[in-house]
Amino acid sequence: VLPAIRYLDFAVRWFGRVRYDLATSGLTPISAGELGRAVPDDPEARERFIAAVAERYGVSEAEVVPTLGTSGALFVAYATVLERNGAVLVEEPGYEPLIRVAEGLGARVDRFQRERGDLEPARVLRALEADTRLVAITNPHNPTAILLEDAQIRELSEVLETRGVALLVDEAYLESVAPRRSARRLGPNVMSCSSATKSWGVPWARAGWLLMPKETAALAIRAERHAVGNAPPSSFAWGELALKEAERLLERASLIQLGKRELVERFAAAHAERLRFSPPPPGSLFGWLEDVRGRRLTPLIERGIEASGVIVSPGEFFGAPSGCRISWTTDSPALERGLELLPEALEL
Ligand SMILES: Cc1ncc(COP(=O)(O)O)c(C=O)c1O
Repeated sequence: VLPAIRYLDFAVRWFGRVRYDLATSGLTPISAGELGRAVPDDPEARERFIAAVAERYGVSEAEVVPTLGTSGALFVAYATVLERNGAVLVEEPGYEPLIRVAEGLGARVDRFQRERGDLEPARVLRALEADTRLVAITNPHNPTAILLEDAQIRELSEVLETRGVALLVDEAYLESVAPRRSARRLGPNVMSCSSATKSWGVPWARAGWLLMPKETAALAIRAERHAVGNAPPSSFAWGELALKEAERLLERASLIQLGKRELVERFAAAHAERLRFSPPPPGSLFGWLEDVRGRRLTPLIERGIEASGVIVSPGEFFGAPSGCRISWTTDSPALERGLELLPEALEL
């Protein structure tokens, strides 16, 4: 039986359904009509999507595996690289599917700490076991939004390469923050994945990709065959359009987001004695708050949902119960009202 993914169960239940939504981490979706026109049943859309991804991220087409969302890419990456009874080493705090999908495939999951988003290669090395096949991280980090520099990822990939271990970098939020360079090119053992979902506001297309060495990319098709058979060409037709329109979508994002982060920063400054805010890189759609007193915030957040219609994302689902992820993707009036209601909900 596959393990439950509690974070996604919670997100499906509440995100977008609570009045003051400071939890949804993706940009306000664009409508299909506003994005443009795509021919959804064109069987060649897949090839054109591959070419567009390769061009944007400076990799060869043979390294691109089209997937259904970043979620699909995580599954394909794990199913291709992990062996039953092998092990994967996952960051903590971390995005829960990175753990559960590996468990579902019969792998063991070990963890290493990223305190406030920092990543120390020495710490990763210490946590490696003889059967570790893969280290999995997110960049920008979900939940803290901290962005690693290329040099840091390169250093990590080099030390892992000497141990024969691969590095998977989930870049679901990469396009929100400069310089928007995928980690795939930073080492021969690096895989990366992302989608049009979060930063471009095209969640409904489920257009995702996995970038990996071409030898493993050739094997990855098997995972698609197992999971979905033949993925819908419509996803890749819309995905190709999103890639072609990427700069316009990013401009749309900066207009939609204008002034919102400042509201959250003002809130964080006003409550700095109770909540520690980790400033995210410019363009981020979310940030991380940590309760200074170390209280477990989940029950307070759950009560706030019911009592005042405000929601943030409980850190507990990421393995950090005294923190919460706060997003600024809702409209400004709702964000402002949500920020007014939050202190009482969290009993600050
Ligand atoms: C780190 C991370 N990876 C992957 C996903 C899923 O992305 P997609 O909607 O493209 O499947 C999310 C969504 O919350 C995420 O936060």
